[in-house]
Amino acid sequence: MLGLPPGTEGAFVTGATMANFTALAAARHAVLARAGWDVASDGLTGAPPVTVIVGEEAHPTLLKSLGLLGFGRRGIVRLPVDLQGRIRPDVLPRLSGPTIVCLQAGNINTGAFDPFDALCTPAREAGAWVHVDGAFGLWAQASPRLAPLSRGVERADSWATDAHKWLNVPYDCGLAFVREPGTLPAAMSISAEYLPASGAQRSPSDFTPELSRRARGVEVWAALRSLGRSGLADLLDRNCRQARRFAARLAEAGCEILNEVVLNQVLVSFGSPEATRRVVAAVQEDGTCWCGGTVWQGRAAMRISVCSWATTDADVERSIEAILRAVRRLDV
Ligand SMILES: Cc1ncc(COP(=O)(O)O)c(C=O)c1O
Repeated sequence: MLGLPPGTEGAFVTGATMANFTALAAARHAVLARAGWDVASDGLTGAPPVTVIVGEEAHPTLLKSLGLLGFGRRGIVRLPVDLQGRIRPDVLPRLSGPTIVCLQAGNINTGAFDPFDALCTPAREAGAWVHVDGAFGLWAQASPRLAPLSRGVERADSWATDAHKWLNVPYDCGLAFVREPGTLPAAMSISAEYLPASGAQRSPSDFTPELSRRARGVEVWAALRSLGRSGLADLLDRNCRQARRFAARLAEAGCEILNEVVLNQVLVSFGSPEATRRVVAAVQEDGTCWCGGTVWQGRAAMRISVCSWATTDADVERSIEAILRAVRRLDV
């Protein structure tokens, strides 16, 4: 469904933050192993330096995950992005030595995707590990209409996503995926005399940071079973169509849409930062729908994110009316 390469291994974790952490732990282990260093045994002190590359608009939880793995913020190379938050392919530096390149499927503000094909080709040629944070955007792969947005994402080595975002299962359900079989357990495996020995049956704690954990797969199975492939594609397409409807109606009414609405995210400015903040507060107070505030490349915005199976087209119309009511009432 997500179009990942055959043989890809995965693990259920608490969310995309831990999915990034888990996949990047595998990345760290693999790039250092290729350089002749066993990080599981010898730690990071004295290890060959690892170049870690991210886009300027990487989600803060990606930086947090990297920090937990010993890659401090000051040492990370941050690449410039375009107006949608996509890494510009022309700015990828020449790569050599152990390297992890972190790309993004679905920017939290704009919904934009990094240009995977253009970035994966040089990264893979240089032997770098490519990781993709696809907390909600990786789901584009499950819709034939949206899949062109994430073209080339399957060329990465690892991916992080959430089931508790667009698949709408309850909170605390992320997924880490790693292409090369055996790489994830190499970083995560655990044994103890009192535990059953890993045998023919997969031992989940050999794939995740945690030992004890709940059966997150049950809800994911249930959601996928009830939606089916076409039901999931319909959900994704419907939310994106609803996002475009928000953008079109608000633009018609004179509001400024700050992003290209390619997925399910819409950024709206109502004039000055102060006016935008007041509209966001009024919409939240009104309670018809909930939209948060954000700042996109220096501009205050209201962030509309459409991602619920329960949102109907009538809800969207009611929400648009509520936003425009706030605009009129505040006279911004
Ligand atoms: C791109 C991206 N990465 C990571 C995260 C963190 O996800 P979680 O809250 O599931 O840890 C988010 C959350 O919105 C996100 O949008």
